[in-house]
Formats: sequence, C-alpha cells, structure tokens
Amino acid sequence: MRKLVKNNVSWVGYIDWELETFHGDDYSIKNGSSQNAYLVEEEKTVLIDTVWTPHRFDFVDNLKKEIDLNKIDYIIANHGECDHSGALSALMAEIPDTPIYCTAQCVKSLEGQYGKHGWNFHTVKTGDTLEIGNGKKLIFVEMKMLHWPDSMATYMTGDNILFSNDAFGQHFAVEELFNDKADQCLLYKEAIKYYTNILNPFSALVAKKLEEINGFNLQIDIIAPSHGAIWRERPQQIVEKYAQWAEAYQENQVTVVYDTMWEGTAKIAHRIAEELHRQSPETVVKVFSISKADKNEIMTEVFKSKAIVVGSPTVSNSIISSVAGWLEFLKQLKFKNKRAAAFGCYGWSGESVKILQERLRDAGFEVIEETVRSLWNPEESDFAAIPALVSSLLK
Ligand code: FEO
Repeated sequence: MRKLVKNNVSWVGYIDWELETFHGDDYSIKNGSSQNAYLVEEEKTVLIDTVWTPHRFDFVDNLKKEIDLNKIDYIIANHGECDHSGALSALMAEIPDTPIYCTAQCVKSLEGQYGKHGWNFHTVKTGDTLEIGNGKKLIFVEMKMLHWPDSMATYMTGDNILFSNDAFGQHFAVEELFNDKADQCLLYKEAIKYYTNILNPFSALVAKKLEEINGFNLQIDIIAPSHGAIWRERPQQIVEKYAQWAEAYQENQVTVVYDTMWEGTAKIAHRIAEELHRQSPETVVKVFSISKADKNEIMTEVFKSKAIVVGSPTVSNSIISSVAGWLEFLKQLKFKNKRAAAFGCYGWSGESVKILQERLRDAGFEVIEETVRSLWNPEESDFAAIPALVSSLLK
C-alpha cells in the first residue's frame, strides 16, 4: 500500500515489524525497521530503491496494484546492499529494459550479487541530473563509503526532498512514516544506535559530506532515508545531530563494561561505578555485562561516553571470549577521543588486565596506567586501587 510523502511522491516500501536482527545477526532490532522505497509520479515515473530480498514478490505485487509497471520510466538504485536492491531481480523480470540510474560502484555491487543480466544501467556522479517533468529534476550525490563504496543520495527539486538512503536512517518501524508521528525518545535512541554501529567508522567522511551538501545550498524540506522515519518536521535536526556525532562525539558519561566467571570481576565493576559517581556526581555512569546486554546498545553507550572501563577475568592466560569478541567489534567502530582503563580478577597467572590494555590501545583509546587487579575474590585491599583509577580516568 502506498503512503503519501508529498505531492506526487509516495512511500512504497515495507515496514518490518517482525525483524529482530540485521546484517545477519550483527545488529539487533528492538523496535522493528523498514525498507523505504519511493515512487515519484511526475511527467516521468521514477522508482527510488526497492526492499530486502525476502519481500521482493510482495513488493512487486503491491507496486502492480498501484501502477502499471510499464509506466516506470526510471529506477534509481541509491545503494546496492540487498535490503534496498533485493527486489530488483523480480522487478526487472517484469520490465527488463527500464533504465537503472546508479553509481559505477553500484553496478559492480548489483552484478556481483545478482549476476550480469544486461540491465540498462546509466552510471551517475555527483552533480548529474535527470529531468522528470513538471519543472522538476533529480540531482545525484555520491555518498562514497557512507556506508558502502556505491552509496548515493538523490535530491528532488521542486519538492526539495533528499532521498538519503542509509544516511539519517534508523532501524525503527514507524507506521505513520514521519518523524513528528514517532515516539521521540525511541527515534533518537534508534538514530544514534544506527549512527554508532553503522556510520561511526566513517565519521571523517560524514563531516566532509555534510560540508559538501551544505555547499550546494539546496533547500531540504524533507529527508527521506531508506530505513525508519522520514524527517519532515525540522529535517535539519538530524543533520545537526550527524554534524555533532561526526566530530569525536562524547557526553559526560563513563561506561563500565565487563564479563565475569564467578562474580569477582562483576564486583569490581560495580565498585568502580560507585566511585565514579562519588568522585563526579554529575557524570552519567552505566554498567553492562557483555554477555547479558545487547552489544549494539552497549556500543551506543560507549559512543556517548568520554571514557570506558573494561573488565575481564584471566582465562587460559588470556581474556574471557565474550570480552575478546566485543573488543574486536569495538576496534571496528573506530571511536575517537575516548579514554579507557582495565580491571579484572585472576586465580594464578593474571594476564587479563595487560591484554585488555593492549587491545584498548589497539582500538584507538587513550589507556591510563592505573588498573584494578584482584587475586581470587576481590577484597577491600583490592578495591583500594579504585579511587586512583577513577581520578586518573576523569582527569
Ligand atoms: Fe540499508 Fe547499506 O543498507
């Protein structure tokens, strides 16, 4: 079913209330999601993006109920990832000669995933335009590495809509489509989670791209991303957030992250949190067990933090596997401008804290020297090291 976005622009995507994970199981979905596709019906009829592969036949069937597919003059593929291109094969089986406008990298991505079918590709670069009638045109803007090499945004003049694809999106199901209709707390939570887990590694490019788009002096009335709410009420608010998030973002928060075998490392974690609060009552302090909390949501809290404290017991001369995997993910997200400290229990060899410090340095954190290490169960004599760790971390 189509939903009106503005004038002759409709949403024709898929709201995925049942989705639980994304990118395989690597990204948790707590509040549904959507794959947003758009139909523009000016003198020319244009389809912008499609939906994820499992929904391809429903997508084509629904589209057929709205228009004669042969009326589609152009398809715009802003991004080759299968959550937006997954219905292309089914659609092209019906209208095989329809021109597809996308970047050169997107052609590689689409042919790499779906095979070479002789589709009628028209490759575009930043600044290229496509007239769609009624005095309106589409302007293409390459969004290289935001977040794939092929990513692109499309701006529609006249209605001043930026179809931004993944940028400014959220994994968040909003039946009423628009940001002003969404639960505002969830909208912010899902937008920052999306930025942290998908876009943060490319923050330097985000900052440059925002400058470039600002330089075009385009009036943007609506930002229509490919996931989640469409920003029609003060769309600039999410651009402003991206500008802040792209600049080594931090709030006055410290996050303690740990895993534990027999609760010793957990006890240290909570004592560190208490001391953080004692020394700096205005600082937000959060504590997460890596094996119990959602890893994407922990990363979002890390993104908001000025410092983190990471704990692991020593296991087989190393760190516990849950923390090891989490640290690998932490490194991938390329956080900047954050401090870190390490702690942990051990029974005999006791390597975990040193290994944690090395891994945190490797992940780009400024690691302080002070640590808390406890032989067997932590006692008051072990906790005595906590105030120095906390005061050094808060400096
Ligand atoms: Fe929503 Fe990069 O795909």
